[in-house]
Amino acid sequence: MKDGRRVLVTGGCGFIGSNFILYLLRNRSDVRVINLDCLTYAGNRSNLLEAEGDPRYRFVLGDVRDSRLVNELAEEADVIVNFAAQTHVDRSLMDGASFIATNVHGVFVLLDALRRHKHIRKLVHISTDEVYGETSRDRPASESDPLRPRNPYAASKAGADLLCLSFHTAHGLPVVIVRPVNIVGPRQHPEKVVPLFVTSALQDLPLPVYGDGRQVRDWLYVEDFCRALELIIEQGEPGQVYNVAGDNPQENIHLAESILDILGKPRSLIRLVPDRPGHDRSYALEAAKVRRLGWSPEVDFRAALERTVAWYRDNAWWWRAIYDDPAFRAYYRQQYGSRLAQGVPYRS
Ligand code: TYD
Repeated sequence: MKDGRRVLVTGGCGFIGSNFILYLLRNRSDVRVINLDCLTYAGNRSNLLEAEGDPRYRFVLGDVRDSRLVNELAEEADVIVNFAAQTHVDRSLMDGASFIATNVHGVFVLLDALRRHKHIRKLVHISTDEVYGETSRDRPASESDPLRPRNPYAASKAGADLLCLSFHTAHGLPVVIVRPVNIVGPRQHPEKVVPLFVTSALQDLPLPVYGDGRQVRDWLYVEDFCRALELIIEQGEPGQVYNVAGDNPQENIHLAESILDILGKPRSLIRLVPDRPGHDRSYALEAAKVRRLGWSPEVDFRAALERTVAWYRDNAWWWRAIYDDPAFRAYYRQQYGSRLAQGVPYRS
């Protein structure tokens, strides 16, 4: 990485952050990574076992909202990549407070640090396709489209994006926003649909598909996303937004069926359950801008899913520890207890 040898990653113990750190350490011999993470339920230090002991990697336990700490670490960084966020839509519907605190105020702290540390070349902020609200293949969102978030998580990310753009406009800060579609891969917390369905199937538990299951998400393999990020860190223009699409649109019901097929489990495990409030029917992005930088996805949907399923099958210790945690069990009961009781079997 020409411009960014010293990378401060915030939220590096989560799903995408940990995959990105491992990607950097594997592919960039000259990189130095500081990982600032406060280890919420979704952050797991064991995600980075491979990195611990590597002299190029340092873990710092702390919160992205801790301005003193962030400013201290910013001193040592050329680039900041922000993954620190509360990300689960269903949790944001139950209680949105932590979403505003981390996703909005946390970004403000980073921007403020960027203002003080003029030597930092870039802040790359990870956003989401959800900020555009419902979008479809016929009318995919492009980067200049208006933001119409429809759930508290998406609204918190939209707020953060606007803060980033305002700091670029007002202070000329080198901020770049990245809006990916749904990412799939190893080490994602089992609250999210793919790991939830995979780990449920592995335990012969029902797969709760919301509503009619015809909602569409576009899927991108995490390593493809890491390559896009690397390119955006190097070549992304300050003040710009980059959509990153997978061009792998799938209905949720098809996702459930594919996972069961890969694992050789019966489709009778699928339950259609009461829908998520404000559930966006579909997301689709127009991503010519990142493609013009020379990026395109390499792993197709089936291969991405097979690799992901294989990881969960081979690393049962990782997700069993989460299922054994009373806090996750309480969440599961609250989110799925009555939903599953009302659920109906799916007949294809
Ligand atoms: P999710 O993984 O929560 O990501 P997002 O809402 O950010 O796209 O959900 C992906 C899709 O799967 C979404 O349409 C909601 C659906 N879904 C279910 O059908 N059942 C579930 O138990 C979960 C968690 C999600």
